[in-house]
Amino acid sequence: MIGGLATPGTSSHQPFHAGILHWKGQKCKPVKYAEILNWLPSTLNAHVRAHVKSCIKLTESIPKGRRMRQSQLHGWRYIKSPRSSHSSTETTSTETKPIYHQFTSMGNGKSRFLIHDNQEEVNRLHYQHEMLRQLVHGNYNAPVEDAFEKGGIKVLDVACGAGSWTLDMASTYASCQFVGTDISDNLLPKSGLPPNCEFLQADTLKGLPFADNTFDYVYQRMLGYSCSETEWNIVIAELIRVTKPGGWIELLEIDMAYERPGPSFEPLLKAVKAACDARGIFLGAHKRFPYYFGSFENVHLDALTIPFGWNGPIGQECAQNHRLAWLAMDHRLAPAMGLSREAYRQLVIKSVQEFAEYKTWLRLPYVYGMKPQKGN
Ligand SMILES: C[S@@+](CC[C@H](N)C(=O)[O-])C[C@H]1O[C@@H](n2cnc3c(N)ncnc32)[C@H](O)[C@@H]1O
Repeated sequence: MIGGLATPGTSSHQPFHAGILHWKGQKCKPVKYAEILNWLPSTLNAHVRAHVKSCIKLTESIPKGRRMRQSQLHGWRYIKSPRSSHSSTETTSTETKPIYHQFTSMGNGKSRFLIHDNQEEVNRLHYQHEMLRQLVHGNYNAPVEDAFEKGGIKVLDVACGAGSWTLDMASTYASCQFVGTDISDNLLPKSGLPPNCEFLQADTLKGLPFADNTFDYVYQRMLGYSCSETEWNIVIAELIRVTKPGGWIELLEIDMAYERPGPSFEPLLKAVKAACDARGIFLGAHKRFPYYFGSFENVHLDALTIPFGWNGPIGQECAQNHRLAWLAMDHRLAPAMGLSREAYRQLVIKSVQEFAEYKTWLRLPYVYGMKPQKGN
């Protein structure tokens, strides 16, 4: 048990050597958590070191659901950073490389999400997925590994975006059925899908197009920046409705409380919070995880941490993803801040450059739990 409740079916936690994986084109090499501490910069103060230590959970005992499968390790892919077309002044030596599919349609999305649903966002979401898979040490935390291995289960990825998680999981677990839904048809994959996987355009707020109690496992990652507090309640009710009794729901969200933001990032953070406020977007969903899962059993709450621009390759990847996401909000935030697009972009680039110096990081809270067998 890592805190919270014990995970059923995983009473004996087997030793697991895990940690931030080498992945830049090299063979993946699982490492011990203890080793990660040795990699931290020597300049890191004791407080931060203690925090990192608690966050990475200095233990060799990880519940089975968090284990990265060998097939995932062997199938690890290095994804080149998508090049942003936002700025001519920034330097990236890599090129755009759509990963899973060809994008087939463009148009206006209907969500309040602050980033356009275009090809650039598709690429960024795939890139972000690979980054998150490292941070999670796999694709999920709930103790559903045995069910996936056994096969035959139905899985739903809600607000799946470009379908990165669904496609990855469907390729890994060929005998399970996967469905991804998103409000934006533009983001959804259209071709080259594994046979056990489909995508549907669906606004969760209007009701998911599935009967009650359909899915064994329902996953939703980073819906944030999209819904009001009331809408979040509707979303959660929908997720619960379509989950089978005894099935699992897992959510992962961003906590916008950046720790140690540098001076250039502070006005940007203020601007994005103001933009969300103006749209009625609720940024506190993670704080309501215990409420959302109030009727559930075996609830487990925890958080991942993201270092930006420090703590080795993963920090570089997180900073790059952050930079792309914030550049992609220029059409919304530059006017709100009274800046030209170019001035806004320069501020984003400078803020990301400061991250390493200030050791900026944030939390990605997650929760999973089991829908009770008898009613809910
Ligand atoms: C940050 S993206 C996350 C995508 C995906 N879950 C991932 O982790 O790669 C947020 C997604 O939520 C979708 N979204 C926003 N409001 C939605 C709604 N009401 N119903 C379904 N999807 C929605 C957006 O279109 C966008 O694809």
